[in-house]
This record gives sequence, C-alpha cells and structure tokens, in this order.
Amino acid sequence: MASQKTPFDLNQYLVTRTETVNRAMDRFLPSEKTRPVTIHKAMRYSIFAGGKRMRPALLLAAAEACGGKPADALPLACAVECIHTYSLIHDDLPAMDNDDFRRGKPTSHKVFGEGIAVLAGDALLTQAFEIAAQAKGWPRYPHRELILEIARASGSLQLVGGQVADLEGENKKLSVAELRYIHERKTSALLCCSVRLGGMSANCTPAQLQALTDFGYHVGLAFQVIDDILDVTQTSEQLGKTAGKDVAVQKATYPSIVGLEKSRKIAAQLTDKAFAALKIFKGRAEALEGIAQYLLKRDK
Ligand code: IPE
Ligand code: IPE
Ligand code: MG
Ligand code: MG
Ligand code: MG
Repeated sequence: MASQKTPFDLNQYLVTRTETVNRAMDRFLPSEKTRPVTIHKAMRYSIFAGGKRMRPALLLAAAEACGGKPADALPLACAVECIHTYSLIHDDLPAMDNDDFRRGKPTSHKVFGEGIAVLAGDALLTQAFEIAAQAKGWPRYPHRELILEIARASGSLQLVGGQVADLEGENKKLSVAELRYIHERKTSALLCCSVRLGGMSANCTPAQLQALTDFGYHVGLAFQVIDDILDVTQTSEQLGKTAGKDVAVQKATYPSIVGLEKSRKIAAQLTDKAFAALKIFKGRAEALEGIAQYLLKRDK
C-alpha cells in the first residue's frame, strides 16, 4: 500500500509548540516568589499575557526544516520571545507609543507603574542572553555566534535603531524607502534572527542558513505591513491592543503611504518571496510555509 502522508495541521502545530514554549519559559524565568517579587511578577505578567508566539514557532519550524531536534532549539526560542516581549513593554510606554492595552490586558506600566515596566523590559532583555547561553552550540555555530546573532538583531543597528527611526518619523511624511528602512529594523530583524537561530540550532549548512535568512527577511517585512493593515481594519477587542493608534498619532505606515489595497498586495508579494526562498528544503519546510501563509491571512 502506498504510504499516505498526513496533511499538515498548522493549528495543531501552533498549539503544541506554544505549549512547549510556555512550559520551557516557566522553567527559565525566576518564580513569582523570588525576591524582589515585583519584578518577577512583572516579567511573567507580560510573558504569559497571551502573545501569538510567532517568533518561537518560526524558530522551531526552521530547526525542523533542517532536521534539528526541538529540544536543541527551545532555549533560543524562549530567548527571542523574551527580547520580543521586552520590546513590546518598552514600545507601549508613555514615552513611546503610549498604549494601555497589550495582549488583551492592561500594559505593564498600567499595572506596575512606569519604573517597574522599564525594569521588567531590561530584565527580560538580559534574561534572553542568560537563556540563550544555555543552548547547545555546534562547531559551526558556537555560543559566540548564537549570542552575536541575538545581540546584533536587537541592538542600535537593528531593533532599537528601527524603534528610533519609528519615533522620529511621527508626524512626518516618509517615503516608502524610509518606511522600509524602519520595518527592516524594528520588526524584520528579530523575525529573521529567529529563523536563522532555528537553523543554527540544527547545525544547518551555509546554503540552508542563506535560504532561511532570505525567508526570514521577507516574512519579517510582510509581518509589519500586516500589523499596519490590522491597525486600521480590526477592532481593539480583536487585536488585544488599541486599534487605530497609528492614524491617531500620524505614524508612517504602509496604509497611510500607499493605501490599503496596495499594502495588501505588497504583503502578498513579500510572502511569495519568502516562499520562493524555501525551495531548497524540498517539502521539509511545510511548517515554515504554513506559518508564513497564516501570518499573511491573520486577523490579529
Ligand atoms: C507585535 O508583534 C509587534 C510587532 C513587531 C508588529 P506580535 O503581533 O507578534 O505580538 P504578540 O507577540 O502576538 O503579542
Ligand atoms: C512595534 O511596532 C515594534 C517593536 C516593538 C519592536 P508597533 O508599535 O507597530 O507594534 P504594536 O502595533 O504596538 O504592536
Ligand atoms: Mg511602536
Ligand atoms: Mg506600538
Ligand atoms: Mg503596530
């Protein structure tokens, strides 16, 4: 009898990976009872508020595409989620986007005050490196490479740099090229880093790493174009964060510069480019494909 391949179930994939990541995260973070309790409560509050866990899912999926073991990828998956969550806590502060809701709950500074929210972000950023240092290295990808990868994606040339340009772009008319510069840094860099780390955890070949880089870059750009679109098309209840904020503060976004229709087209084109990068995996990247497709169609 011809062997029948079971169809890939993305929903099931995301549920199981999220559970795995959440259990590991619970082990990596200090307990709420650890002194000083406020900071550990604040770190856990934002980490377990219910994010989509897309960066860990992409990291684990990239590891699988390269034949790696989930256990080897897990510390890195938790590390990127710590970086992402720190960036959201700080992004929501009154000094930045001044948002009251995140992941369906009041933002960290609304619950714990601004001082603790700043520190919870600082602590999660630092925690990320502590967790990443516990990952298994390979001769081709020693710890030094893994740590460099995270530091570069998060620092002033990438994520932080993008957030700076994003702030400085408020109330200005930016070109599409300037907006692309912001999106590459504030969003695409960490998504690309996540996918690359997944490959590295599986001791991937240089050709595989190049393909993952190409995939991650384009998925990361598409991710922020969709985030901009959802801000205008969805309700706050649906998003779990305040909708319509970008228009209110005249943020430069794809819909504000090229319109909704064209933004949707651009997101689809970026996703197509991401798909094209996966060719070399010859069908072993169905989780990566499924996630990229889901991210394009997502409604939150
Ligand atoms: C929101 O990221 C911030 C951006 C980079 C656009 P997500 O949409 O992944 O947020 P969570 O993790 O699901 O809350
Ligand atoms: C956030 O971009 C990017 C980072 C946090 C690095 P946004 O400001 O558009 O994200 P949301 O819409 O608040 O989630
Ligand atoms: Mg922002
Ligand atoms: Mg924001
Ligand atoms: Mg946004």
